[in-house]
Amino acid sequence: MLASLSSLARTAAQTQVGLGAFNVIQLEHATAITRAAVHAGVPVVLQISQNAVKYHGGDLTPIGRATLAVAERAETEVAVHLDHAEDVDLIQRAVDLGFNSVMYDGSRLPDEENRETTRRVVELCHAAGVDVEAELGEVGGKNGVHDPSARTSPADAAQFVADTGVDLLAVAVGSSHAMTTRDARLDVELIRAIGEAVQVPLVLHGSSGVSDEGMLQAIAAGMTKINVSTHLNQVMTAAVREALAADPALVDPRKWMAPARAAVEAEVQRLLELHAGRAGV
Ligand code: G3H
Ligand code: ZN
Repeated sequence: MLASLSSLARTAAQTQVGLGAFNVIQLEHATAITRAAVHAGVPVVLQISQNAVKYHGGDLTPIGRATLAVAERAETEVAVHLDHAEDVDLIQRAVDLGFNSVMYDGSRLPDEENRETTRRVVELCHAAGVDVEAELGEVGGKNGVHDPSARTSPADAAQFVADTGVDLLAVAVGSSHAMTTRDARLDVELIRAIGEAVQVPLVLHGSSGVSDEGMLQAIAAGMTKINVSTHLNQVMTAAVREALAADPALVDPRKWMAPARAAVEAEVQRLLELHAGRAGV
């Protein structure tokens, strides 16, 4: 069933577990991630990025409606979230479709403009009962460049939340987007300091570059929403490669998509159980 992101995140933060958030590019991602959450017995976030919308010809509606339909039918709580949106019209579209939350990403804008636009997005979304995540201190790598050096200051983070009224805050603490190795070094002390300064749940972007142990340390230090995308794409693509290599005569996409979907489901379930503190590293 559909659920509010802020209530899922608040519950997770209070119980010091992670809330897994995974990116949907195709319908198979949505079904695999949701089945994994049902099997793990935990809530989950299905998120669609502005880049994924671009891949779908700039139209959020088909993939958005499909993802919402998967979430509505799920036997666990699922928040459907618009990820890394820089376009306010796209945010409005997500609100109209019935998304539970959006991430407005103004982290590339000058600070004052980021605050001002985030505030406007919060007004627009809250009027419709939709939660807002925003980012302060750009998490590196959105252009494919690994820049783990960005850092968010705790005092600035607290001021940003007070100025804008956001429900969740993404912060820069050493992770970087689109990493294909899991060796990012997180600043755990900084996570703790931001967590003490800020009252809303914190979001870790670029979690594909973070090891299992790093994720557990981040959650213990106060990180709540754990965003993973590239890692699942690696798992999915490896399974596709294996299926195609094993049978060069394959033509039916269902024959190579099914093992890929199963591999994503298994890895999401493993990560969700890890985030819930139910698996060792
Ligand atoms: O917003 C999405 C995440 O930050 C995913 O980043 O692809 O590096 O895991 P990742
Ligand atoms: Zn991100």
